[in-house]
Amino acid sequence: MSKKLIVANWKMLPTTLAEAEGVLDLINDYLELLNEKKEFSLVFCPSFVFIEEVGKILKTSHLEHEAELGAQDIAVEDETALTGEVSGAMLQKLGVRYVIIGHSERRWKLGESDQVVNQKLKSAIRNDMVPIVCMGERERDENFSKFLEKQITNTFEGLTSDEISRCIIAYEPVWAISTNPGAHSDTPQSALESISVIKEVFSKIYHLSPKTYLYGGSVNSKNVANFLKEEEINGVLVGGASVNKEEFVKILSLVSKL
Ligand code: PGA
Repeated sequence: MSKKLIVANWKMLPTTLAEAEGVLDLINDYLELLNEKKEFSLVFCPSFVFIEEVGKILKTSHLEHEAELGAQDIAVEDETALTGEVSGAMLQKLGVRYVIIGHSERRWKLGESDQVVNQKLKSAIRNDMVPIVCMGERERDENFSKFLEKQITNTFEGLTSDEISRCIIAYEPVWAISTNPGAHSDTPQSALESISVIKEVFSKIYHLSPKTYLYGGSVNSKNVANFLKEEEINGVLVGGASVNKEEFVKILSLVSKL
């Protein structure tokens, strides 16, 4: 089985740098104990305010070889006046290698359109980062594949085949995100069905499909192994459980036993 990618989306947590350091310390201790070959790679996506410090911590000890730095968002433009935004060039200088694009909280709670997501995706690519492009339906009904097709068409508009193949796809059904009312994780079977729909759409439109597919939405230590034992699910995007340090270490220990 190839190495799985575990992406921690910290959102607006932890609220202090000391807590963030606590999470990373525990993971570092765990990696130190784990002598055998690691079956996973890690990406930490802290909020902008902690990015620089987290980047420094990731360059130390056991995290250095296992973990990369990611951002949760990126500005659409590189050099212009956009109050409150953080440009790709700024992120690059801080050592950010990955960036989450089109998270459903930005799409649905902040009104980010597919067109804006498309511009952010282009910004990430222009700045040489690996985009982790989130997609997923709001309702699981008979129209879900049509919804995914439209989201893909709009989100990837104008990208070359080479650029598309550099993207990581995170399938995150909106109804499965742990903070949404009534949320529950998807089943591996239905996540696989969606991933296969996404691959078919890419093949149909672009004659190729990205290589890496993550599942996200209420991932925790109870369900992570069920998703990741599937060959076609190459990793997970973890929100709430990634800032609970004991839970996150539990997740890593389960992945290392797959
Ligand atoms: P969750 O969040 O794991 O808390 O459901 C995932 C995400 O929003 O990326």
